[in-house]
Amino acid sequence: MAKVPSLLAIRPRSLSSKVLLLGSILTFAITLYTFSSYSFRISDWSSILSQQRQHNSCTPEQWSSGRWVYSPTSDLVNLTSPEQALSLAGFEGCAADREYKWHLGTDHEEQWDRFPKVSSYRWVPSSQCDVHPLNGAAMVKDMVENGGWLLLGDSITENHFFSLSCLLYPHVRATPNYTENPYFDRAWQQHLYLSPSSPIIPEITMPEGFSIENTPLVTFRRVDLLLNGTELDTIYHSSAFSVESTGLDNQDPSSQYTKAESLFGDESFWSLSPSEYMPTFLDSPPDANYGTLVVSTAGHWTTTALPAFHDEDAGESAGFGIHNVLAFFKVAMRTWAGEVQDAITKYHINGGRRPKQVVVRAYLPGHENCHNLFEPTETITPWVYTWYNWPWIPDFNTEFQELLSSSEFPDIHYLPIERPGRLRPDAHASGDCLHLISGSGVLEGWSHYIWHFVTREVKQKDMV
Ligand SMILES: *[C@@H]1O[C@H](CO)[C@@H](O)[C@H](O)[C@H]1NC(C)=O
Ligand SMILES: *[C@@H]1O[C@H](CO)[C@@H](O)[C@H](O)[C@H]1NC(C)=O
Ligand SMILES: *[C@@H]1O[C@H](CO)[C@@H](O)[C@H](O)[C@H]1NC(C)=O
Repeated sequence: MAKVPSLLAIRPRSLSSKVLLLGSILTFAITLYTFSSYSFRISDWSSILSQQRQHNSCTPEQWSSGRWVYSPTSDLVNLTSPEQALSLAGFEGCAADREYKWHLGTDHEEQWDRFPKVSSYRWVPSSQCDVHPLNGAAMVKDMVENGGWLLLGDSITENHFFSLSCLLYPHVRATPNYTENPYFDRAWQQHLYLSPSSPIIPEITMPEGFSIENTPLVTFRRVDLLLNGTELDTIYHSSAFSVESTGLDNQDPSSQYTKAESLFGDESFWSLSPSEYMPTFLDSPPDANYGTLVVSTAGHWTTTALPAFHDEDAGESAGFGIHNVLAFFKVAMRTWAGEVQDAITKYHINGGRRPKQVVVRAYLPGHENCHNLFEPTETITPWVYTWYNWPWIPDFNTEFQELLSSSEFPDIHYLPIERPGRLRPDAHASGDCLHLISGSGVLEGWSHYIWHFVTREVKQKDMV
């Protein structure tokens, strides 16, 4: 992999924003001095500067160290129609229409008794947090003016996309229309566009070339593993993934790990190469106007999807060799982060001026026994069983976090914001304990924090 030499990897945008900031402080000061020189007090200076110096208005850790507070939004006692779930959640509607009732948790009437409780809790972050209230119209304006969101991930990220289609409604419209195109394929992209009838359009400053009709604000693409199958197989067989360097041999001294012929088995997965989605992410209006790439992965890194790592002798308590998957994940995500950072660095070197940042949302595992639980918990419930790779998902998250703490990846940020969701066993879809319903606050909390992070935390970081 051709890496850009690290000297060139200084973010041009952080340099230019520093210069801009200095310039604007000077201009402002001169203006202030010229026009109000008689009333100019020294304290004005310090307040201007201290505002600029206020960093980290809410770190992901501060956001996550809060709690769920019961705060019902209506007097409704029982749900009598599915539409009531929308108003309980504070939504005017949802633009996306695929599996509409499933996403809202209203597809099984026998489970309607979880309303209104499931939509009656509000996440209150640490008191150190200074975060603007969640506001769909303000988010839409930001997405047009400062760049939209490209969401890559599995079906949990699709849950996130659906929730965004409600949060941003009525200012967005969604494609495709699944009522008109019921022949669904998971590889289809789903988009949210600025709605031509949104009342906030006159207040938005559109970037050059932006098209209300053709420039997406939010896009979801199904990408389970962040790299495609060919790339993963190549890494698996390369010397970068050596049995010795990853410590695979030490897992069980009695058994030697030998690489299998093929990494994959029959289990289907959807994945794409960064060489496919990075050009989309970095493209300009009218085809694209993204500022933030939101990714999340871990749920599909299993010994059934990657049977080359399956180790029957390791037994259920060791996840049948899940540590082998984890060792591979580490190497694969290093490759991924290198390619993604290089693409962003080259974009800026080649004159690209829009800030581009990647956020890796910590993956959220499911909850055991979720359909018998109707309230948030105060602490994370320990595992009883070993369903899928859920007990090891925190290990995958930790690997990703450690990797991204390196200064090699200045534009890729890890967001450990899974704790609110880990305290909501009641917020799952009717048919399983992994997927999340829109409107409980879990998915909306991800949007809220990511919006805060990209509009306030990342910008401040650049100004340091
Ligand atoms: C409302 O729901 C509760 C709990 O499910 C049930 O006991 C009660 O009979 C319901 N009331 C009406 C009016 O349906
Ligand atoms: C999808 O198409 C159906 C049928 O034409 C239409 O009734 C519905 O309003 C459309 N939905 C959206 C969100 O545009
Ligand atoms: C994966 O991406 C590479 C480019 O990096 C491409 O050459 C290859 O054909 C892709 N494989 C699949 C299965 O799409």
